[in-house]
Amino acid sequence: MLNTGEEMKIGILGSGDVGQVLGTGFANRGHEVMMGSRDPKQDRVANWVKKNQGLVTAKSFSETAAFCDVAILATLWAGTANAIELAEPGNLAGKVLIDATNPLIFSEGKAPSLATNGDGSAGEQIQSWLPESHVVKAFNIVGNPHMVDPDFPGGPPDMFICGNDEPAKVTVTGLIEELGWLVIDQGGIESSAYLESLAMLWIGQYIATGSGDHAFKLLRK
Ligand SMILES: NC(=O)c1ccc[n+]([C@@H]2O[C@H](COP(=O)([O-])OP(=O)(O)OC[C@H]3O[C@@H](n4cnc5c(N)ncnc54)[C@H](OP(=O)(O)O)[C@@H]3O)[C@@H](O)[C@H]2O)c1
Repeated sequence: MLNTGEEMKIGILGSGDVGQVLGTGFANRGHEVMMGSRDPKQDRVANWVKKNQGLVTAKSFSETAAFCDVAILATLWAGTANAIELAEPGNLAGKVLIDATNPLIFSEGKAPSLATNGDGSAGEQIQSWLPESHVVKAFNIVGNPHMVDPDFPGGPPDMFICGNDEPAKVTVTGLIEELGWLVIDQGGIESSAYLESLAMLWIGQYIATGSGDHAFKLLRK
């Protein structure tokens, strides 16, 4: 198990907003961050590396997967299987992989919908594509602008996570706490279906209000 608070090598698979925000967030907390991309020289990636000069690097999916202690999968759902193939599953064997994806279908003029449509989840699918990795679903239930240092009037929101490997969840909990969240363990990877549905609720609120300034919190007494 990787110890909480330890400096880690974090490999971000995917160069979109989620990959960039989490990559910068973890680099600013002293972790060694590499971003994996089909084209690490593309403008979007090069600009991000420039902005975080000296703190991050960018290479191919497979080089990033081989480099990291912990991987973060932040790919468009439609490209996720290809990204994993390019990363080469053997490079991720025995490692923790944080799955931030949502299995969304985008169609012109319509709100996004879940590709899984009530049958399984992206989290389970990814665990089955990477049987030797410890997949932990996380970060999928909030918009990227609030993934690092979430600042809400009700205090830190809750990040729900799930996965089959307990030590992996301890490692991921420590990493998420470093970014300013409280963490709730929702059980095994099959709970990804709930977390992906929760993302749909988040997206529904975004569509209804035009604002992404919301996050979830479980109230207890
Ligand atoms: N945006 C958010 O606020 C948010 C919040 C929560 C969860 N999510 C989920 O997080 C994931 C990432 O979202 P995002 O908005 O950051 O980015 P995105 O636009 O969904 O795409 C992220 C990356 O996916 C990779 N990709 C696309 N097609 C590919 C293909 N055919 N093969 C291999 N890789 C491919 C690309 O990487 P390269 O071009 O570098 O190869 C791209 O930068 C998605 O699953 C999304 O649903 C997003």
